[in-house]
Amino acid sequence: MDNRAIGIIDSGLGGLTAYRELRRLLPQENLVYFGDTGRVPYGSRSRETIQKYAMQDIRFILRHHVKLVVAACGTISSTITPQAVEAIGLPFSGIVRPTAQAACQATRSGRVGLIATAATVRSGAFGRAVEELGGPGVRLTAAACPLFVPLVENGFVQPDNPVTELVARQYLQPMVEAQVDTLILGCTHYPLLSQTIQRIMGPQVTLIDSGREVARWAQGFLAGHGLLAQREQPGTGEFFVTDSAEGFIQVAGLFLQEGVEGRVTQIDVEAL
Ligand code: DGL
Repeated sequence: MDNRAIGIIDSGLGGLTAYRELRRLLPQENLVYFGDTGRVPYGSRSRETIQKYAMQDIRFILRHHVKLVVAACGTISSTITPQAVEAIGLPFSGIVRPTAQAACQATRSGRVGLIATAATVRSGAFGRAVEELGGPGVRLTAAACPLFVPLVENGFVQPDNPVTELVARQYLQPMVEAQVDTLILGCTHYPLLSQTIQRIMGPQVTLIDSGREVARWAQGFLAGHGLLAQREQPGTGEFFVTDSAEGFIQVAGLFLQEGVEGRVTQIDVEAL
């Protein structure tokens, strides 16, 4: 038993997909969320910049007495080096392996699609994980969807939003043409658009939600290592952001369906 918190990092709001699932699966856990809303998006930046930002984010989350660090961000997860992970000195997971594992289990035809940020697609991390976990029978078709993150961050998430629909149709065309039966939402922002994506792909396609898969992984890991929290009352949730708290409170509240007022603090991650 371990009552320290779980630390979650993301470039912005997307990691809330993991937060929501962790809260649902592990109601006793204290969760500390860091969203770098002042510097989002990461996915269009260089590898070096993403690695520098990721280390600053991790340094911040480590100040909160956490037992596990979850990079609920496809871009950080696919760009961070094994040396950086080692230096954390605590259990760590990104989204790549848990998500690739779920996709390999779900596919029947072996045709798996990946949509993610440009940096994630460029890294090839999902391709390597799918090859390792799924073997030669699984083939990955990948496409970057750079406009999805700004759409989500600006609240264009309603399933009937015509702008999002138009953009999604264009981005998903290669996935439709490749006839994938399983589609990895390899960026944690994308599950917020899952109704639109599902409608375009059709009901026969299984969507793999990276936020949900990393939360399931965390649950299994903590249970398997005797690290689950034990407390009478529900766990707490604290949020730290690098842009104004107000904007985050609005979209996060909508998405989490729980008010986060009074629990969001703006910080300067570069000054730490
Ligand atoms: N949630 C991040 C990811 O999963 C966001 C992308 C970004 O910052 O560009 O990749």
